[in-house]
Amino acid sequence: MKILITGVNGFLGYYLAEQLLQKNFSVIATGKGECRLPFIGQHNFVYESMDFTDPFSIHDVFERVRPDVVIHAGAMSKPDECEMNQMKAYMMNVEGTVQLLINSADVKSFFVFVSTDFVFDGVKGIYNEEDAPQPVNYYGRTKLEAEEAVKDYENDWAIVRTVLVYGKNHTGRMNILTLVKEKLEKGEEYSVVDDQIRTPTYVEDLAKAIISIVEKRAKGIFHISGKDILTPYQMAVKTAVHLGLDKSLIKKVTAADFSQPAKRPPRTGFRIEKARRELGYEPLSFEEGLEKTFS
Ligand SMILES: NC(=O)c1ccc[n+]([C@@H]2O[C@H](COP(=O)([O-])OP(=O)(O)OC[C@H]3O[C@@H](n4cnc5c(N)ncnc54)[C@H](OP(=O)(O)O)[C@@H]3O)[C@@H](O)[C@H]2O)c1
Repeated sequence: MKILITGVNGFLGYYLAEQLLQKNFSVIATGKGECRLPFIGQHNFVYESMDFTDPFSIHDVFERVRPDVVIHAGAMSKPDECEMNQMKAYMMNVEGTVQLLINSADVKSFFVFVSTDFVFDGVKGIYNEEDAPQPVNYYGRTKLEAEEAVKDYENDWAIVRTVLVYGKNHTGRMNILTLVKEKLEKGEEYSVVDDQIRTPTYVEDLAKAIISIVEKRAKGIFHISGKDILTPYQMAVKTAVHLGLDKSLIKKVTAADFSQPAKRPPRTGFRIEKARRELGYEPLSFEEGLEKTFS
């Protein structure tokens, strides 16, 4: 089975490629520009430079490769950047997805789209797959619009929504755990909100769940996250304690204390019963994920 991944140079992309290669799938890794992964030369790994906002680039790769499965993990994934560059965010997150769907339809690929908890308004919290989305920022709006395009796809599709992904970072993107380590090791204070709730997701659990979806050809929407409900402040303190760093440097703040371009949904987090039932998904606890992140 040939599996094409977009955004492979990103945080999740690395783990998708690694786990698919371990399972002997044929991986067509795509990203903008040069490959930044250490898998070049490995059996079953091919890298193609493909900008998914460029229809010619996509068409060229799809015609040559004809993937059986497309995992669309690439995105403009930072909410503040999306808020400040809305045209670019639309081109990347909506138009890019539409172009990939058009080319996937030609070869009847199974299309797996990675989406976000930010499609919800964050009022109710702990959402299931049937809850009604209502984004509060532009990033969430683009991801929801892309989801709508995926739902109209004429072949098999799955949408994987996830929440605050953390883990060891091989490709540059920081997450809350790696930021806590960096700041506290320098003796700097770090302000973190305590009035938002999330079910943080260990990155290897997310990659594993996506690969189960591919293997089972599971269709529809799946909520994939960790099982512990935490505020970002609680995550930061647990990280400091785990690393033996000075937790008094972590300052508890509220969203109102921050002026960020993109509004954040206050209470997200997921119910993961559907994934447990249909995929046999069982995530690590936050403590176990912490351990693996810094192992
Ligand atoms: N991380 C989280 O906490 C989180 C939470 C919820 C949902 N998600 C979703 O999960 C998915 C993966 O996120 P991530 O954390 O791995 O994000 P990431 O580290 O920012 O990776 C995204 C990748 O997409 C690539 N990309 C952007 N525009 C592209 C284009 N036009 N053509 C080709 N590649 C392009 C980026 O390339 P460059 O590296 O070259 O810029 C980057 O490597 C995204 O869909 C995101 O929306 C993430």
